[in-house]
Parts: sequence; C-alpha cells; structure tokens
Amino acid sequence: MSNEFKIGNFTSKELVEKFGSPLYVYDEQIIRKKIRELKDSLSGIKNVKIHYACKANSNLEIIKILNQEGAGMDVVSSGEVYSCLKAGVKKEDIIFTGNNLSNEEIDYAVSSGVLLNVGDLSALERFGKRHPNKDICVRINPDVGGGHHDHVITGGVESKFGVYFTEINEILEIVKKYNLNLKGIHQHIGSNILEPEKFLLAIDVLLKVAKQIPNLEFIDFGGGIGVPYTPEQTSLNLKELNNEVAKKFNSFCNEYGKDVIFSVEPGRFFVCESGSLLTTVNTISTNPAYKYVGTDSGFNHLVRPTMYGSYHEIVNTSNMSNEKEKVTIVGNICESGDIFARDREISKVSEGDIFAILNSGAYGYSMASNYNTRGLPAEVLVNENEVKLIRRRESFEELLRNQVFYG
Ligand code: LLP
Repeated sequence: MSNEFKIGNFTSKELVEKFGSPLYVYDEQIIRKKIRELKDSLSGIKNVKIHYACKANSNLEIIKILNQEGAGMDVVSSGEVYSCLKAGVKKEDIIFTGNNLSNEEIDYAVSSGVLLNVGDLSALERFGKRHPNKDICVRINPDVGGGHHDHVITGGVESKFGVYFTEINEILEIVKKYNLNLKGIHQHIGSNILEPEKFLLAIDVLLKVAKQIPNLEFIDFGGGIGVPYTPEQTSLNLKELNNEVAKKFNSFCNEYGKDVIFSVEPGRFFVCESGSLLTTVNTISTNPAYKYVGTDSGFNHLVRPTMYGSYHEIVNTSNMSNEKEKVTIVGNICESGDIFARDREISKVSEGDIFAILNSGAYGYSMASNYNTRGLPAEVLVNENEVKLIRRRESFEELLRNQVFYG
C-alpha cells in the first residue's frame, strides 16, 4: 500500500505487535532535523547557545539526542537536573529556571553546579544570602505574553512569572548587596506561539532591560516556538523571523560593546512532531447524537485535548482509504471529558484499528499520569530501520511502588 502510515520504516501494526498498545513512538530523524533547522535559522548571530526545555519530553534518550546535537538543557525542577546529569549533560550546560524556589532547590542547584535562573526578588534575595559571590541569572517579565491557551501565557501581569521589567533597580541592588555575578537575563513569554510579532515585541523589551545591566554574558529569550497542530495553521517562518531577531540582537551587541551569547530554549519545537501516540480501538458504540470510538488510551496518557481543548490530528493507520466517517474518539478513563476528538472526520473505523495521534512528542508522556490506576505506556525510539524500547510499560507492581500498606 503506497499510502501506508509509517514511523521511520515501521508500520504502526509492526510497532504495536512488538511493543504493545498504547505506545508512544518517537522518530529520531525528525528531532535532529528540527534542531538543525533552528540552528540554521540563527546563523546570522555570532554566539548562539540552544537549550532544550526538557519538560516537553524528559526521556533520557531524547535528552541525549538533543545534547548530541549541541543543545544544553533548560530544566525546571531538581528532578530534571538529576535526569539531565544522568543523561550525560554537562552541568555547565544546564540552566535551572526555578519557580517558587524553595531553599532546598536553591541549594541543590548550587551543589549540582548548575546555573540558577530566579524568577522573583524573594528567590534572588534568598539565593544571595545563602550563596554570596555566585553566578546567577534573573528571569524578566517583559509585559508581553503569547501562546495557544491562557494556561500557557507566561508574560504579562496575569502570569506569576518573572521580575517585572520595571524592577531593574531592585534586581541590581540585591545583586550588589551579595556581590552576585548577574551573568544573564532571561524571559519566556509563553508556549506554542505562531505569531512572529510577539517574539519581536518581547525581544525589544528584554534588550532594553539588558542595556541597563553591565557585563552580561548571555541573554536568554526563552522558548515558545509554535508548531501547527490543525490543518489550517502554518509554521512560523523561522528563517524570516530570526533574520529580524539577528538584526535586533547584533545592533544591541554593537551598542553594548560585546558579543553577548544569544540563548533560546524551545521544548515543543524539537520534539512535538517526532511523536505519535498509537492507540487501539476496542469499542464502537452509538447514542442518538454521536458515534463513539473507544480507545485503549485516554487523558491519563495525553492530557492536552482535555486540559487545553487542543486539536491533535488523528490517523486511522489501519485504513488509509478515503472512505470517511464522522466519529467522536474517546479514551477509557471514567470521566466524560476524556475525549481526544469530537465529531472528527476519519477513515472508516473498525474495532482493532490502530490510531496514531500525531504531534504527541511534546507534553504527551511528560504530562501523563496514573489516574484510574492505569499504567503509563511504553516509549520507543525509531531511527530509520532501527527501533528500540526507551521506557518499559508500567506493570501493576510498579503502579503501587510507593504505597505504604499496613494491611
Ligand atoms: N522555557 C521555560 C521557562 C518554560 O516554562 C517553557 C515551557 C519552555 C521554555 C518551553 O516552551 P515551548 O518551547 O515548549 O513552548 N503543557 C503545555 C505547554 C506548557 C509550557 C510550559 N513552559 C502544552 O501542552 O501546550
């Protein structure tokens, strides 16, 4: 069949027969292609440092691939610091963007030797008191935000993140008081942004802030590069956007008198399109309004449709014909909100068919849970003719692993 659905050189049937269903599958070639595309688009800037925001997908093998491609890591918890170090990332290539940092997290970051990026004056003050004379980065809120849903907009007053761009003097006072080395400033305005103007606006604000701070080594412009999920959406033209960005940044460097490092930290952009969640249809039922197609996965494995109303393209890989029908695709979790797609046109469905839920490589497995006491799926990595298991399916025993049961 010429229009067979394949990941690398494997059909979904082969993958499910070998590794079971539901199954997260990632295509290594796509991950490598995406980071190279970003690098290429930034070729107009002299010193570029890319970090991968590994919250998007923190499987150690995925971290390793991006690290091999030259990316450092943006982490948001001690657990992510630990994971990255385990995956072989050098400590100096890790930036820890903290949120409501506890003193324990501050100390863990310092003892692990990773750079901390603090997002409020309280954390900066506590950091200074505990670790005077050390390097630090501060996250700025530039009063510009963007993203696919209110929940993921991280700039502006509605968002808890960052020291407001108007509070530079307060930052500098604390830095001076504890003799800190303010190595860098940072911003991240939101996630899945497809409008270039948002990035350009925010960059202007951060560069204005940067001018008021002496001796910066780097400026980190965050992540947020969007990916088209719906058929109507189009990709950002990265080359065009980053040519504009390069102009702004290079003229800043000229004025500042130093080739500051330009840093970015996308998550989704690198991994989203590499991943599919394969799930098997086990039940078809109808009521007066809808035809329900019930699968063996649910929002415990991919929460984005339920949590944000996100659209994910779904392919019936067992029937690639043009004979379509309208169905509502649901999971097996005991909640009515457990819907992958309402009234979706898809090739005619039979029980036993395997669906591929596309664009599931980012914020899929990493947001999955054990709700309904169901195990997490396995994860596999495909590289052309090769496929390897990179996380086992969870067993019943593993589901209970941390419980203390007194019988
Ligand atoms: N840097 C920081 C500080 C972040 O908080 C994030 C994402 C990123 C970088 C990477 O953003 P990206 O390039 O992936 O857009 N769960 C949501 C997305 C939440 C993003 C949170 N922060 C979703 O599934 O859409």
